[in-house]
Amino acid sequence: DIKGFVFDLDGVITDTSVFHSQAWHQVADKVGAPWSQELEDGLKGISRMDSLEMILKAGNLSDKYTEDEKVDLATEKNTNYLKLVDQMTPANILPGIKKFLDDLKAHNYLISLASASKNAPKVLSKLQLTDYFPQIVDPQSLTKGKPDPEIYLKGAELINLKPEQCIGVEDAAAGVEAINAANETSIGIGDPKILAAADIKFNDTGEMTLDHIKSQMN
Ligand code: BG6
Ligand code: MG
Repeated sequence: DIKGFVFDLDGVITDTSVFHSQAWHQVADKVGAPWSQELEDGLKGISRMDSLEMILKAGNLSDKYTEDEKVDLATEKNTNYLKLVDQMTPANILPGIKKFLDDLKAHNYLISLASASKNAPKVLSKLQLTDYFPQIVDPQSLTKGKPDPEIYLKGAELINLKPEQCIGVEDAAAGVEAINAANETSIGIGDPKILAAADIKFNDTGEMTLDHIKSQMN
């Protein structure tokens, strides 16, 4: 029986995936790496330094920068990202999410957050959703990022559940892969072609209700 939900943040709870993309696109332009829809999709769910590495690789630029210069580029991206986060309000919560979280609480499901972002607590606070997520996986504690299952295993552990008792919710292919590898039930929100591996698929957050989930489970 499902007893808990482990959530991704960016692109699931709120529209910050667009902000991450915008800020990375600036970095790609600056270093002269090609930007594509494929790269944009592939970056979703990927940690800060791994994202930079993917962008540099796309332009065959990996060897052109020292480790220090790479940290500087990632820091610049984060500064630009945080400028966008600063303007966020609860209006940036994606459709249906607040009600879904309220329904989960009303039905006593446990909730944790499995975001790769070090900015997750700040984003939750801007959205005024901090109280819904008492358990947040600390991305600094991870040895591997998504698609490795580690973050989703920790998300289940934080709420004292077995992976089999959890549903993971993602907008990224790397995230769905992580959920599946953790042996949790996966919900993929977004393009069903990109999220083909998800156990349950919704085109957008507004479709994600307990009834719709139950009707897709068996
Ligand atoms: C993920 C996002 O949630 O967090 C990625 O999907 C982002 O786009 C990653 O790179 C790391 O975020 P941050 O805020 O720590 O740079
Ligand atoms: Mg995401």
